[in-house]
Amino acid sequence: MAYKRVEIPAAELARQRDICFEIRERTERAPRRPLALVDTYGCQQNEADSEELRGYIELMGYGFTENENEADLIVVNTCAIREHAEMRVLGNVGALVHAKAKNPNLLVAVCGCMAQRPEMAEKLRKSFRVVDLVFGPHELWRFPELYKKARDTRRRVFAVEPSEGVVAEGLPVRRSGRTKAWLSIMYGCNNFCTYCIVPYVRGRERSRRFADVVAEARELVEAGYRDITLLGQNVNSYGKDLDEGRDFADLIRAINDIPGDFLIRFMTSHPRDATEKLFRTMAECEKCAKHIHLPVQSGSDRILREMNRHYDRAKYLDEVRLARELMPELVLTTDIIVGFPGETAEDFAETLSLVDEVRYDAMFTFIFSAREGTKAAAMPDPVPREEKQRWFDELVERANAISAEKHAAYIGTRQRVLVDGVTGREPWNLSARTNGGRLVHLRGDEGLVGSFIDADITDGNTWALYGVPAAD
Ligand code: 5AD
Ligand code: SF4
Repeated sequence: MAYKRVEIPAAELARQRDICFEIRERTERAPRRPLALVDTYGCQQNEADSEELRGYIELMGYGFTENENEADLIVVNTCAIREHAEMRVLGNVGALVHAKAKNPNLLVAVCGCMAQRPEMAEKLRKSFRVVDLVFGPHELWRFPELYKKARDTRRRVFAVEPSEGVVAEGLPVRRSGRTKAWLSIMYGCNNFCTYCIVPYVRGRERSRRFADVVAEARELVEAGYRDITLLGQNVNSYGKDLDEGRDFADLIRAINDIPGDFLIRFMTSHPRDATEKLFRTMAECEKCAKHIHLPVQSGSDRILREMNRHYDRAKYLDEVRLARELMPELVLTTDIIVGFPGETAEDFAETLSLVDEVRYDAMFTFIFSAREGTKAAAMPDPVPREEKQRWFDELVERANAISAEKHAAYIGTRQRVLVDGVTGREPWNLSARTNGGRLVHLRGDEGLVGSFIDADITDGNTWALYGVPAAD
């Protein structure tokens, strides 16, 4: 299905920058430099969005702080995926009344997926007077204008109209890291899994143009980034809404052709349309990390149908088999939901048996959370919470045991890792990732950050590996 793409005109974006410069003139005249805090919840897409917000905020002449009592602007970038995530945000936003009492000049903005939910926007309007500005993911590109309006009018501003979504190129970005970078390749989702709020808050699938993505990847490599993660709710759909005749595998290949020593990662790929072409491309492209995050959600065909996932257990297992055949070293991770409405003990047993069969390197497990407006929220859900919790605990125990076994198999091997940070903790003062994305705690010289090195793995547990830089 093709949807109309709405690209924000360059002149509109130039206008947003002009607003930033206008604000900057004011901030530069202030007795002290104002500070901003951007607090991010949820997924990597939100992390990437926050880097764009910080880009704008930096243009406005703000500095940054981690301390809410020092801040003149606080932006809370929220997640709506589960109720728990929303409750945490509400608790933290409510507590900002203290910071505001100390600094009446503080402007509080709430944005992201939760802000786009009409019920939540209403709740913020009625019960969270501390919030001055609320805007959804579709309005991020015009943050400067919204911010200025809220500051100048001293009235609350809400920009949360429903939208199919937009594509905005060329926003300023202030990246958090110097080794790893996020690169959004598409936005939104068309899948409508029955449990999921994302299509409602992030709009329809829109791909960025092939040349724009490749150009940004090239800039990142030239700027010294060594680990580039391509982001999309469903990267396998990349390009389907464009008339460029290129798909996600073509994109990986084009980025792989950029000269330089770096790794390409991506998130998330839907098993519905993970193709043989994708696996072959991953296998053939030496810069593409041999890791795939392939959320299965459930091992029961009946539940997969109820979830509207468009694949069954057999198709999923075939994909895993093929991917491992083409990439024997492949690291495989997944997401699983426990306690979907109507799930029975038999369905859950199918999930456990799938986990035993696949043996994931790592798993992200969740108890079903009803999201207002989704189909699943209206389904009968008779299983008590305590029962779901028991299933969940059993699954986590199984997953942890498998991860520990997988990690134990690394002990005594030599791995090429990318050193990506200093932990500030002894004796494992460095953190690194294997090609497949497994975390390695290292002991070594801090000058190694940003380089690929060989590491001898000396230990491992459920969560991580431990090692030392190879001596020879
Ligand atoms: N309840 C529980 N887990 C959910 N996820 C998405 N929606 C829900 C929900 N309503 C999980 C899925 C998805 C991951 C990002 O979050 O497993 O893959
Ligand atoms: Fe990311 Fe989904 Fe949460 Fe939005 S709702 S922040 S897209 S995980």
